[in-house]
Amino acid sequence: MNSVLIQNGRIVTATDDYVGDILIRDGVIEAIGHHLPAENAEIHDATDLLVFPGGIDAHVHMETPMGNGVYTCDTFESGTISAAFGGTTTIIDFAQQFHNDSPKAALDRRLAAAAPQCCVDYAFHVILTDVNPSSLGELPDLINNDGVSSFKLYMAYPGVLMVDDAAIFKTMRKAGSHGGMALLHAENGLVIQALIEEALEEGNTSPKFHQMTRPSLMEGEAAHRVIRIAELAEVPVYIVHLSAEEALAAVVEARDRGIHAFAETCPHYLFLDHSEYDRPDFEAAKYVMTPPLRDHHCQHALWRGLKFDDLQLVATDHCPFCFNENPLGILKSKQYGRENFNKIPNGAPGVELRLTLLYDGGVRTGRINLNRFVQLTATAPAKMFGLFPRKGAIAPGSDADLVLFDPNATHRISASNHHSLVDYSLFEGREVTGKVRKVFLRGQCIVDGEQWLGKPGMGEYLPRKASGRVL
Ligand code: URP
Ligand code: ZN
Repeated sequence: MNSVLIQNGRIVTATDDYVGDILIRDGVIEAIGHHLPAENAEIHDATDLLVFPGGIDAHVHMETPMGNGVYTCDTFESGTISAAFGGTTTIIDFAQQFHNDSPKAALDRRLAAAAPQCCVDYAFHVILTDVNPSSLGELPDLINNDGVSSFKLYMAYPGVLMVDDAAIFKTMRKAGSHGGMALLHAENGLVIQALIEEALEEGNTSPKFHQMTRPSLMEGEAAHRVIRIAELAEVPVYIVHLSAEEALAAVVEARDRGIHAFAETCPHYLFLDHSEYDRPDFEAAKYVMTPPLRDHHCQHALWRGLKFDDLQLVATDHCPFCFNENPLGILKSKQYGRENFNKIPNGAPGVELRLTLLYDGGVRTGRINLNRFVQLTATAPAKMFGLFPRKGAIAPGSDADLVLFDPNATHRISASNHHSLVDYSLFEGREVTGKVRKVFLRGQCIVDGEQWLGKPGMGEYLPRKASGRVL
């Protein structure tokens, strides 16, 4: 029997905050208390450190094909090492159905790619792009037998990923009646397409026009529309990467009426704003993600949403593309869109920074407290996506996924010291206080200071229970 004892840490969960020891046996938390037996146990001293449940990042894109031969530049291995160094021990990535493709086949492809490489535990949402009787017919089995209870649909990117409102409604009804939930990329894709064409016709090709052609009003419109569709279908609904005040207003309005509308936001929307698009020399391309960065009104609204639970999760939407040409080929690079903002691969890195940024800019500034921090980064994602109480908790019987966090250590964020393969950081040079010291995955210490102790393939696939049944 393998025993690990974490001594004298300040244990913080979504509800509690106390000093104690955690005894782990065979990867599971066995007991929490004082002066727990240390015989034959590997001992870790957590004096003066915070102990959090391992983070769960519910929105990442590792080695993901984006069309046109473009892939995100982190493999499942590099991306999960980066996640681990940031205190995230579970990721939920995506398995995308293509046209004339089976959702189950999409899942199997991603499982095959992930299994030998993942260094933390992992699950998948399935992206539906071809909603028809055959693909809808696969959903009950995916939910009940494969443990996939969340299905992402795009209201943006017409002709590539976008599905229509009827497809959304049908997916919601089918998935919803079996414990599944639809996740929506909420932007009005057709209006945005018209704006993109207008900009290009006028010769406006620089990265700033990515932001100018994706107005927050059209995120708000789509969020409102999809919540109404969910209301009619009588199912919960979840909006990914919510960035706009208008979209949040739609969520708040619905929640006030008792509708089960949920949403996540991302650190870049909380800590960066649209002034990044004024950077010269194509540097603005680093900040081309969808939705784009917004203004201070939106940031203020998002913080308020996090505080009062109108936003339930913080996820990263880690979707890294190198800025410069990289050894793996120019198609993986932001440079692909140098002459046309519409060709810049959409997405930005962030999986390693979520806990640090939210601690530094959320807890230390008093915008959220420590319990809420744990709720947003671990417990709520576990409950939202059917992983609780195995994940997202520090309790007897839960997996011993734990983060020892030094609340006083300062460090400077830089691409030169992160573990992702991406060649830039959105937060280059930012000094932050709060640092991950040790990370345990099912009782095994995989990060110890700067040392990597994990190995590819040690991550386990996590079949999930129902999604969105959190109330
Ligand atoms: O720009 C982004 N967010 N790229 C990733 C795909 C998505 O929409 O989540
Ligand atoms: Zn995404």
